[in-house]
Amino acid sequence: MRIVILGMGSVGRGVLASIMEKDLPFTVTGIADSKSGIVDPSGIDPGKVMTIKREKGICGNPGITPIDVVRQADYDVLVEVTTTNATTGEPATSHIREAIMRGRHVVTSNKGPLALHFRELKALAREHDVSLRYEATVAGAIPVMHTIENGLAGNRINAIYGVLNGTCNYILTRMAEEGLSYEQALIEARELGYAEADPTYDVKGIDAAIKVVILANTIWNMNVGLSDVEVTGIDLLTTAAIRLAEEQDCTIRLLGEAVPNKNLLRVSPRILPRDHPLVLNGTLNALTLSTDLAGDITLIGKGAGSKETASAIIGDILFIKRMYAGRA
Ligand code: HSE
Repeated sequence: MRIVILGMGSVGRGVLASIMEKDLPFTVTGIADSKSGIVDPSGIDPGKVMTIKREKGICGNPGITPIDVVRQADYDVLVEVTTTNATTGEPATSHIREAIMRGRHVVTSNKGPLALHFRELKALAREHDVSLRYEATVAGAIPVMHTIENGLAGNRINAIYGVLNGTCNYILTRMAEEGLSYEQALIEARELGYAEADPTYDVKGIDAAIKVVILANTIWNMNVGLSDVEVTGIDLLTTAAIRLAEEQDCTIRLLGEAVPNKNLLRVSPRILPRDHPLVLNGTLNALTLSTDLAGDITLIGKGAGSKETASAIIGDILFIKRMYAGRA
């Protein structure tokens, strides 16, 4: 499988490190970060590129842009893991469109293009007979999309409830357990590297709302966007409010909910009993899928992180490899 990787942040580096460590059957024929790029049809040494990136801050030739790599490299799958822009979806959307139009599969962790152009990109992929897979956009390492598409294929999913932002969960846990202020807990969360480049996406509930949008569009073929979700973040929550909940054996978690028959798409802080299945500590994510046959299925796992997100990306690439095996 020949792959191109756009983005050398924590996810891109996680993918390259996993390719090396696990000796995965992928040949990397192109890589780009925001300042440089490299194209080599005979295969790029992931270790060398990571060393260059660490030492020089760039991965290749400053004259080569990400879109040049999309257009010029020879590959089967584009791995689009550049930084999310939830307002414009760019430049990732252009990378994805261009690769699909070249007849290449796409695997991405980039939430912007999926939240803004879901239907268009899915239709474009269908038209060009390629796969567009995005397991890594929702709940990091948790195989949510594979579970929905495969394991629960015979079910009708009636509702979803989830803790979909690790940064908020970490902040709420630290405020409850250590009595930290919101500001102190946010500083810690940023140091852990889980927060978005702009952490207001996390604390204002936008990141969780984007994930609700992606899930709703995937599960129920909706055509909704961020503006269809009622969003309240955790940025105005006080330690006193959390203490009050704790005194009643409850706690507060930022919950994403989608219940189509109630016309409900919402992200908001909710008071939950401490023994509720969605009350988890630290940066964990969790998602309950309420189904007709299987009942409630709750998935729990790491919602972010370099190797954890790489796990979702690699799963998608291997899925494509298996699906298209034997085709030219
Ligand atoms: N900032 C996100 C979070 C990263 O904290 O969950 C994963 O999407």
